[in-house]
Amino acid sequence: MHLTHLNIHHFRNIVFADLPLHSRFNLIYGNNGSGKTSILEAIYFLSLGRSFRSAQLSRIIQYEAQNFQLFGRFFDQTELTIGSMRERNGKSVIKLNGEAQLSQSVLTQAFPVQLFNPESFNLLNSGAQQRCKFLDWGAFYYDNAFLKTWQQVKRLVKQRNAALKQQFPRNYIEILENELVEKSQSLHIQRQNYFDKLAPKVQEILSVFSNQFAIQMSYFKGWSSDKPLSAVLAEHYIMDVKTGITNHGPHRADLRFKVNGHPAQDILSRGQQKLLICAIKLAQGALFSQKRKTGCLYLVDDLHSELDQTHLSHLFEKLMQTNGQVIATCIERSHLSDLFKPYDAQYFHVNNGRLCDTKINQENLAQQGSSEKTFLSAGEQQ
Ligand SMILES: Nc1ncnc2c1ncn2[C@@H]1O[C@H](COP(=O)(O)OP(=O)(O)O)[C@@H](O)[C@H]1O
Ligand SMILES: [Mg+2]
Repeated sequence: MHLTHLNIHHFRNIVFADLPLHSRFNLIYGNNGSGKTSILEAIYFLSLGRSFRSAQLSRIIQYEAQNFQLFGRFFDQTELTIGSMRERNGKSVIKLNGEAQLSQSVLTQAFPVQLFNPESFNLLNSGAQQRCKFLDWGAFYYDNAFLKTWQQVKRLVKQRNAALKQQFPRNYIEILENELVEKSQSLHIQRQNYFDKLAPKVQEILSVFSNQFAIQMSYFKGWSSDKPLSAVLAEHYIMDVKTGITNHGPHRADLRFKVNGHPAQDILSRGQQKLLICAIKLAQGALFSQKRKTGCLYLVDDLHSELDQTHLSHLFEKLMQTNGQVIATCIERSHLSDLFKPYDAQYFHVNNGRLCDTKINQENLAQQGSSEKTFLSAGEQQ
């Protein structure tokens, strides 16, 4: 699966951009504030219907514009199109192959992206919810039944919390609990199955990166492993009523990492933590490829400032070995061009929200018989 074309309108500082993408390797470079991360954010938004840096639409829609529009053409055995439009008033239109969709999950399912950015390196310290989201990304693609179970659990936890807050009778809450217990067990099994595939893959990739540290990875289902959820809910009922929330259940699940029995975040250097996180993301991508027989899209933002040269090349080597599409950013073209040199790649230079030019990798021009392409964004043509 790969994105062949991306159109961006009124997204952050990009008035209009049209990116013809290479099926494997793409490098976007330009000064700080030029719009590189915004391009990756637009692709991420197409897939997940949210940004990785702002929760509020008003921050993402271009100042003074009423909406932003994103349009992508991608190839997955056949050519497909995806579109996403968001108005300032919150109205949204999402389309797959020109047909309006009611749920973002249709686009997420069709168009998977895996993001590597400096913020992803906070995963170990960022709380169970973030780590669980991470696990759920993989489980969503690994098991077709996952989304439905996840939505049911989410709804039931919300309903139980509302009932606790409003001090509904115990027998009413028990009816919700019975259903919650059943769905929670299914969700736990789906997560556990995915985790059992993920953990050895992470170890395998980590051993290529470094043999300096041994990680024990575990999955916590959200409640005590030696008791059924029904017993845990009954035991903590008074506390749940007091706090007005369900304190135990699959919404409290976590991915945990230890080194010699201690929390990994207290032991690993910052650099080692980054490697671990890269290994987890690569492992997720590899499992996706195995399952779907196609690669996902890897968005790699600004990592030359986060990883030293050796680890950066380990990461890119691994990315190049996947069957996915890589779209990476850096400030100076030279930061990553050596890593891209052996491959056919597309280069994009961004300046003040405008694409200045795109180039096929110079080294491969002769082989491709292709001439250098230069185009201007609509903003420059005016
Ligand atoms: N809603 C918006 N409308 C217009 N410009 C914006 C908006 N939000 C952010 N910007 C500007 O867009 C640019 C975003 O740049 P960014 O994509 O982070 O650049 P880079 O990753 O190249 O450093 C910044 O210059 C920022 O001031
Ligand atoms: Mg950036």
